Amino acid sequence: MKILVLPGDGIGPEVVDEAVKVLDFLFQKRRMKIEFEFELIGGASIDKYGVPIRDEVLEKAKNSDAILLGAVGGPKWDSLPIDRRPEAGLLKIRKALGLWANIRPIKIFPELSYISPLKNSDGIDFVVLRELTSDVYFGQPRGVFGDHALNTMIYRKEEVERIAHFAFEVALKRKKSVTSVDKANVLEVSSFWRKIVSEVAQKYPDVKLEHVYVDAMTYYIILNPQKFDVVLCPNLFGDIISDEAGGIIGSLGLCPSASLGSLNFGGGRIQGLYEPVHGSAPDIAGKSIANPIATLLSTSMLCEYSLGMKEEASLIETAIRDVLSEGFRTQDLVEKKSQGEKNKLQKGKRGKTKIKVVSTKEFGDAVVRSLKKLII
Ligand code: IPM
Ligand code: MN
Repeated sequence: MKILVLPGDGIGPEVVDEAVKVLDFLFQKRRMKIEFEFELIGGASIDKYGVPIRDEVLEKAKNSDAILLGAVGGPKWDSLPIDRRPEAGLLKIRKALGLWANIRPIKIFPELSYISPLKNSDGIDFVVLRELTSDVYFGQPRGVFGDHALNTMIYRKEEVERIAHFAFEVALKRKKSVTSVDKANVLEVSSFWRKIVSEVAQKYPDVKLEHVYVDAMTYYIILNPQKFDVVLCPNLFGDIISDEAGGIIGSLGLCPSASLGSLNFGGGRIQGLYEPVHGSAPDIAGKSIANPIATLLSTSMLCEYSLGMKEEASLIETAIRDVLSEGFRTQDLVEKKSQGEKNKLQKGKRGKTKIKVVSTKEFGDAVVRSLKKLII
């Protein structure tokens, strides 16, 4: 089996290093022969080859079982035209591999509930399911035409159908509720989306479906996040909603993602691309203070969906929680505005746990140590 690793830009390489370390450890323990291949994407690829992703890399991606990606983008490349920016590399690989289903789990770690900006963050546990290869991201025509600029919002019937099926299938394995997000009071594309999602729902009588306008959704996510299970979104709305969802659990640094191109609930292996939701965070790049949790959790999803290693997937999660219980934290998990007060609160809750602020690498090492204990 082969994993293509695309560290990318900013903190991408730092967090990906830790994920590879953890995977490497697991593969050795399990005596699995899995090959890692490293390639450039985003700004790193622009600097070396002049393009955000080379065709050669797309070919390698197609021929690998899974792709692990860090992040793309940064101020250095901000003035480039849209189609030559680092982000274009990411969009191209998603499209070329046909990865239309993007799963972004949003789950509060009880150990970290104190970093949530909400008064009550207990039990937040939902999944943002974002359509990933259509909508205004890819619609044609697009461009700047003299005195005006234009993008095209478009959804084809089959694109909505397949992501809707995916949403209902995921919901069947969870709390059996789908919230579909649109702007059907204004946009034709959205009312079309709503109609097709409702049609697909007929095949899933056990799942409750509700439609919510995207503006209202941003409001409910803050007011009552515990109510959601599977939040089904078109590409653009899903991009926005998933960042907000990361905010309510306190940090995008805790949010993993998997991008898949087919439904797979039979337990077999499917190709996928795995990346943290947080982006390249250029302001903290190179300091070894980035939080690797989102990438480690993405790695757990990689084990589950692309390698068929379900047990190892949950071991990674357990190891992360153990490390948190031991008091290890990257800086973003302690330096909040009300740090003093909230840490006290947390200490009160967790007995005498002493908080130890560690580097990206030290956190990764601690996860490997904890895995060692869990595996023998
Ligand atoms: C994300 C990112 C990307 C997106 C960018 C980097 C192209 O924001 O994965 O959420 O808009 O999809
Ligand atoms: Mn985004």
